[in-house]
Amino acid sequence: MSISSFHPPKRTLMGPGPSDVHPRVLAAMAQPTIGHLDPAFVAMMDEMKELLRYAFQTNNTLTMPVSAPGSAGMETCFVNLVEPGDTVIVCRNGVFGGRMKENVERYGGTAVMVDDAWGSAVDPNKLSDALKANPKTRIVAFVHAETSTGALSDAKTLVEIAHRHGCLTIVDAVTSLGGVPLRVDEWGIDAIYSGSQKCLSCTPGLSPVSFSERAVEAIKGRKTRVPSWFLDLNLVMGYWGAGAKRAYHHTAPINPLYGLHEALVMLREEGLENSWARHRRNHLALRAGIEALGLTFVVKEADRLPQLNAVTLPAGVDDATVRSALLNEYNLEIGAGLGDMAGKIWRIGLMGAASNPTNVLFCLGALDAVLSGLGAPVQSGAAVAAARAAYAL
Ligand SMILES: Cc1ncc(COP(=O)(O)O)c(C=O)c1O
Repeated sequence: MSISSFHPPKRTLMGPGPSDVHPRVLAAMAQPTIGHLDPAFVAMMDEMKELLRYAFQTNNTLTMPVSAPGSAGMETCFVNLVEPGDTVIVCRNGVFGGRMKENVERYGGTAVMVDDAWGSAVDPNKLSDALKANPKTRIVAFVHAETSTGALSDAKTLVEIAHRHGCLTIVDAVTSLGGVPLRVDEWGIDAIYSGSQKCLSCTPGLSPVSFSERAVEAIKGRKTRVPSWFLDLNLVMGYWGAGAKRAYHHTAPINPLYGLHEALVMLREEGLENSWARHRRNHLALRAGIEALGLTFVVKEADRLPQLNAVTLPAGVDDATVRSALLNEYNLEIGAGLGDMAGKIWRIGLMGAASNPTNVLFCLGALDAVLSGLGAPVQSGAAVAAARAAYAL
């Protein structure tokens, strides 16, 4: 077998993430690698923390990217805040709430599950009831934007309820950061994690996190040692913390961090509110096209994520056939359903730089052509015009 350099195909990424990485981010990552304790790199780290505070809308001192993907950000929150014997309420309305439960149990806590149907937002009344029924609860955890279903939950209200019962909150913002309104300080979120590869349009592998003073106090006051060396924030802060003295903790992923820095600079240039509005505008155009095709959304309108559009397959259509045709003939990736939703839905991402009119029209045209070619029960030829009309509004 002869092996030579790898040249990936040029795709358009409109699945659940990673999303298309902006050329400015890729260019930033191609710059020369410097030492992770180089003063120039340390100065860049300080800017990075400032940029992340803007993205999260927080003044939290402990705000930084974990050197690993979103799952490690999740793990950072749970491993530092959960202690053996703790009761943690986990709101589950899709795949990622299930992972939170795993985290709680692996760190010795008891997970009390508050379940909502996949495709629904988390029901604040159910959280209220669960807190009344479990007065010893220390932490409430939920996913702001459920990537597996496209449902957005009301983080502000859920945090308010948790605080009324004296609980800390852990919020998954992997898919929400940059795509929908998220205000960490105003909403009082205690611990939050995200991912670099969704609405920030960076490469996968970094997880921005932020912790409130209250969460930091809880971590400092632990009765037991954090059971992970790599993710122990007490140690990580020696590297990412304020001040000139940075102690070696691990070798930071230098070039990916250049990329995240550039992605966050771009977010600040655009402005958060503008980014949220752009995601919504492109979603509304996609929605017009999807509905003109005769397809329906999984999530009810009020709870829909603009950056993750879960659409029900037309009757008699094979999921894999359509996605393969889109990939092979159009170099277009859309996502499949997960778990119970596998084979029943598609997940069309409009995340970060990929949330633009060109992609919306391209995706609708390709989907229309593939479905019509297969003889699927759709309204051929109407989708692109409907999206154009939505943009003209
Ligand atoms: C809501 C949510 N949480 C957590 C994760 C895990 O992130 P990662 O795949 O970067 O580890 C994802 C990834 O898709 C996600 O969508």
